[in-house]
Amino acid sequence: MDPKALSKYRPFPAIPLADRTWPDKSIIRTPIWCSVDLRDGNQALPQPMSIEEKLEFFDLLVKIGFKEIEIGFPSAADTEFNFCRRLIEENRIPVDVTIQVLVQTREQLIRRSFEAIKGAKRAIVHIYNSTSPLQREITFSGASRESIRQIALDGANLVKELVPTIPETEVVLQYSPESFSDTELDFSLECCNGVIDIWQPSPEKKMIINLPDTVQWATPNVHADMIEWMSRNLNRRDSVVLSLHTHNDRGTGVAATELGLMAGADRVEGTLFGNGERTGNLDIVTVALNMNSHGIPTGLNFSELNEIRLQYEKFTRLTVPERQPYGGELVFTAFSGSHQDAIKKGLDRRRKETGADWEIPWGVPYLTIDPQDIGRSYEALIRINSQSGKGGVAYVLDREHGFDLPKTMHPQVGKRIYDLADERGRELEIDEIREAFFEYFVNVETHLKVVEYELIHNPSGGDVRCKAKISIDGEMHEIDGDGNGPINSFVHALEKIGQKDFKIADYRSHAVRGGSDASAAAYVQLQHEDGRLLWGSGVDSSIEMAGLKALVTGWNLLR
Ligand code: KIV
Ligand code: ZN
Repeated sequence: MDPKALSKYRPFPAIPLADRTWPDKSIIRTPIWCSVDLRDGNQALPQPMSIEEKLEFFDLLVKIGFKEIEIGFPSAADTEFNFCRRLIEENRIPVDVTIQVLVQTREQLIRRSFEAIKGAKRAIVHIYNSTSPLQREITFSGASRESIRQIALDGANLVKELVPTIPETEVVLQYSPESFSDTELDFSLECCNGVIDIWQPSPEKKMIINLPDTVQWATPNVHADMIEWMSRNLNRRDSVVLSLHTHNDRGTGVAATELGLMAGADRVEGTLFGNGERTGNLDIVTVALNMNSHGIPTGLNFSELNEIRLQYEKFTRLTVPERQPYGGELVFTAFSGSHQDAIKKGLDRRRKETGADWEIPWGVPYLTIDPQDIGRSYEALIRINSQSGKGGVAYVLDREHGFDLPKTMHPQVGKRIYDLADERGRELEIDEIREAFFEYFVNVETHLKVVEYELIHNPSGGDVRCKAKISIDGEMHEIDGDGNGPINSFVHALEKIGQKDFKIADYRSHAVRGGSDASAAAYVQLQHEDGRLLWGSGVDSSIEMAGLKALVTGWNLLR
């Protein structure tokens, strides 16, 4: 910002709470989760959901495991009202799920909300009014604290009066001092305690006080201080479920929620992937999976997160960013070479360990959780661009294409392939990596080419004899040689025509895993007389021919 512009802004004052306890706390308890996707999330969409879409989204939320779902603002519009009615009249609400309806503390709206929830087994009526100085001054044209508090009390009294009119519905009561985040704490407390005194909750019949971080003006520690202060000072604290409702203006919705839980909150309102007004509501997926990553159960099931993301994108017409924690396309993918190597080593170690997966403590560099636990696969973990390293290329060739390259071959292949990504200026597809591997390292015949080959086994055992027709740079040679196997006899044959300027340093072979034809892969490492050391590879349906082709490849690569 222009330095002059900075003079428009003021620091947010700290909360005088010297004996705060939250910094020493950990999150160990599962909060009550309330999804506000269908209300706060929906109201923030460029194209709000249709009733049919909301019904499907509701089912998705139920399937994930939400037991409290704010379904809308039924008094605000007919579609919202009708959606609520359809849920109730079509018996779509499971017995263990409670719907929640939001309403301003205005008489007609409150009455209409009670009509909307009639017939539900259990429903939360959530009333709110704005309390901050900014709202009092601007939206309510300079209204006094007392008159704003009175709005809350009038609403609470009316709700209390209406509860007995729908006796078949168990009504749970919720109050939010909207814009709590920049309301004077003593005034938030006055409003909340006023409502608590009217509703008179008990430990058996609790009410909810929701403290919205409507706009994030301050750092998460200030939010936590505010929550702890309220938690200490609310009347009948043992009869109140203290709820968080963070937004994300400073990009700290998750942090503010986590510190708020440490500060004593019992409940969390938020949305999938953080959809919501402006920068969004709290992303419940992240908070819940953060808890899971510390071994804490949440009651929410994100084991098929990809599928949830696809459905969410369909309903909201929004896209989950590629770097979104847990849900983003790229969050379990390593491009950088050192990261790829470390992940590969971690996963290899894990594969070698014995015991059930859940018995082995998770410990793979760069991965806070096992991607498989949320329905992501290891296959997509390592992708190849110009920043990639040897380990990543070897990992893809191994996992995706069944080639288990010798370790000392990794640098040679890795370098060529990430150079290729650099030349192309983009990430390489998995199949392109296989193609490049074949082009540069498999069955290469750039100078020396085997035209015919015959292996004669000595019936009395011992050495074998090879006879071959080869061409070197277009010139044909008929050669033969003896050795204890096809490779050695071929090397001998080359020696006899003066073409052996190397020695064999290493040899490996294996059946290609998952190949459509039962092919074998062989790797031969050659050391040239000038000291150069390199690998060639051969693939063939016969393991002997694969070995020979690997040797020929190596010979060609030395030229
Ligand atoms: O952000 C907010 O303050 C709200 C309230 C209505 C709870 O959404
Ligand atoms: Zn909100």
